[in-house]
Amino acid sequence: MTVAASSVPIAGPIAPHGGLLLNRTLTGDAAAALHAEAAALPSLALSPGELNDLELIAVGALSPLAGFMTRPDYESVLTDMRLAGGAVFPLPVTLSAPPDLAARLSPGDRLALRDPAGELRGVLDVADIYDHDREREAELVFLTTDRDHPGFANLYRRHDTLLGGDVLVLARPDPYDGDHLLPAASRARFDELGWRTVVALQTRNPIHRAHEHLLHVTLESADGLLVHPLVGETKPGDVPADVRMECYRVLLDRYFPADRVVLGVLPAAMRYAGPREAVFHAIMRQNYGCSHFIVGRDHAGVGDYYGPFDAQRIFDQFSADDLAIQPVPFDFAFYCRSCGDTVFGADCPHDKSEHVFLSGTRVREMLEAGQPLPPEFTRPEVAEILGRAYST
Ligand code: ADX
Repeated sequence: MTVAASSVPIAGPIAPHGGLLLNRTLTGDAAAALHAEAAALPSLALSPGELNDLELIAVGALSPLAGFMTRPDYESVLTDMRLAGGAVFPLPVTLSAPPDLAARLSPGDRLALRDPAGELRGVLDVADIYDHDREREAELVFLTTDRDHPGFANLYRRHDTLLGGDVLVLARPDPYDGDHLLPAASRARFDELGWRTVVALQTRNPIHRAHEHLLHVTLESADGLLVHPLVGETKPGDVPADVRMECYRVLLDRYFPADRVVLGVLPAAMRYAGPREAVFHAIMRQNYGCSHFIVGRDHAGVGDYYGPFDAQRIFDQFSADDLAIQPVPFDFAFYCRSCGDTVFGADCPHDKSEHVFLSGTRVREMLEAGQPLPPEFTRPEVAEILGRAYST
């Protein structure tokens, strides 16, 4: 079967990372040919996180990646936060295989990629087979080898050997009920809307008043917002994506001008890699056509592994030639009873005892105990959806 990688016309205010928006999906006759070919190929069942990566590569969200990383890219990403060819890329995107399967493969082979139910999702053109040192990867990527770190725990659930190479992926109906606005489509939408500055918000939590404050402040200087919740694999305990989507919808509906905000999902897995993941999140949003990216307090953090503003500082290492999307940094936002408003830390003269802010863990504890979330922290409409979801 010969199907070349393709790229699609680039709409939107900003070029994709690396210049081309890749499209690795197959439809029609090419998809049928792949199905026929795959029946005779060795197979690998991907983990949920690997399936998320495959889905993102397929639609160009991880451009310039056309597949899973080979060893030169992987090594260069770990040590220099760049692909071997020089493009900035902060996190490994890898595929792991059990040793018995890896031992049967050689560069040049093709491997069928399946979901855990055995359904064919695509093929890998095997270009490289290599081992990974998980301690080293964790230390460089997560900045810790503490096994309680959710990213590190995830790394240890993976197989020993990594397979690198380009992929071709079967197109399928949007599993997110039409909410996955593909990079080519979001770019076209921004053009239609005439937006030149588009600011993206990454989130894995229900939007609380602090997030809302960042969004409203951003709208004062941007043409539009892409509210882009991550809906791939998250750690146990994070609020499920369908519940969050209900919260985002009600909040945007009631408190934001409809013509200034686009809502779409990002089917990426969370890594909890703090600073490096902030850059990774930004690159994906550039591919979806955003010119700017919000980086607030403890972006993509978990526990106390990262300093609250490390994810902002990491962007200082890159020039505009390295990374076209611009970070929009924000101070810690919270509700202050004395100010009677949601404010930023640097603007508030009052004592901490006047501040209302709940950690994600505290929010979940309250929801699990059936306690109402305070209106200073969460809009009542959002609190109601969360309360309902946790009472069933
Ligand atoms: S994240 O893992 O996706 O970063 P979350 O959904 O809570 O978690 O945060 C989304 C974005 O909002 C991140 O850029 C984060 O830094 C920012 N953010 C969240 N809460 C606050 C806050 N209280 N003050 C400032 N920024 C915040």
